[in-house]
Amino acid sequence: MSNSDYILKQCGACLGATITNINLTQELSKQVTESLVAALDTHQVIFFPEQDLTPAQQKEATKMFGPLRPSESFFDRLDDDPDIEIVINDEETPPTGTAKWHADLTWAKEPPAGTSLYSRKIPQGKGDTIWVSMIAVYDSLSERMKKYLDGLSAIHSWDMGLGGRQGILKKGVEHYMKHKNANPPIAQPLVRTHPRNGRKLIYVNPGFTSHIVNIPRKESDGILNFLYGLTPRPEFQLRHKWDIGTLAVWDNTSTQHAAVDDFFPLYRELTRVTFGGHGEPK
Ligand code: SIN
Repeated sequence: MSNSDYILKQCGACLGATITNINLTQELSKQVTESLVAALDTHQVIFFPEQDLTPAQQKEATKMFGPLRPSESFFDRLDDDPDIEIVINDEETPPTGTAKWHADLTWAKEPPAGTSLYSRKIPQGKGDTIWVSMIAVYDSLSERMKKYLDGLSAIHSWDMGLGGRQGILKKGVEHYMKHKNANPPIAQPLVRTHPRNGRKLIYVNPGFTSHIVNIPRKESDGILNFLYGLTPRPEFQLRHKWDIGTLAVWDNTSTQHAAVDDFFPLYRELTRVTFGGHGEPK
């Protein structure tokens, strides 16, 4: 197999492509790497099925999309490696936080540009992940609504919905306060322009956004709920059924994602690596 002959097939209407005939454990030429980065910019989430990756190889493969950016977030680390998070769901750990629509770490000054997620153990036929294109959501709005939203900011908070984040609460008050103090609420533009492909997108999510600033709270709630009502529309989504050994890589600026909570209390295990490169939201 020559990695330069990889095959890309679009798999969703608004987002998603599957890339086969490629072995991510082998060195990739600059040309192949650049074309894969371009594929991510275009398709927003890309899948590499039938990969056999150690966590270190997942990390290596992810580096082509941007500098690794340890996500300081909610998952445990694999073998204390700050770059590799382990997502385990079982009878003690339901996917409460991850089953809610969110983009990763939107409360950070520089949120991650993207994430790779590699499936290690998946309950058969269950535990899918869904991505939605926030570019498609923006494009679906009327010009009047786009004009209204343009220039607004919204507050994103690390501790929104914390009740579902058992991992953090289990580690005690000191741990909680350390993370809370290190990540104060932050205002981010509600409409953001993607730094690589120039497309406009909606940048609020029910996982981390509390309210829009400088408008009455009820109006903010109404607008956010209207926008959150568009995210679950199937025409803007791509639902992925995992096989073991698939590496998904997503654009965290232009998409949101949610795990499908249909497998509790079965065991499900994936590893995550986060990368940067999109800068501060603008
Ligand atoms: C995540 O939110 O990063 C994990 C998604 C999943 O478990 O499917």
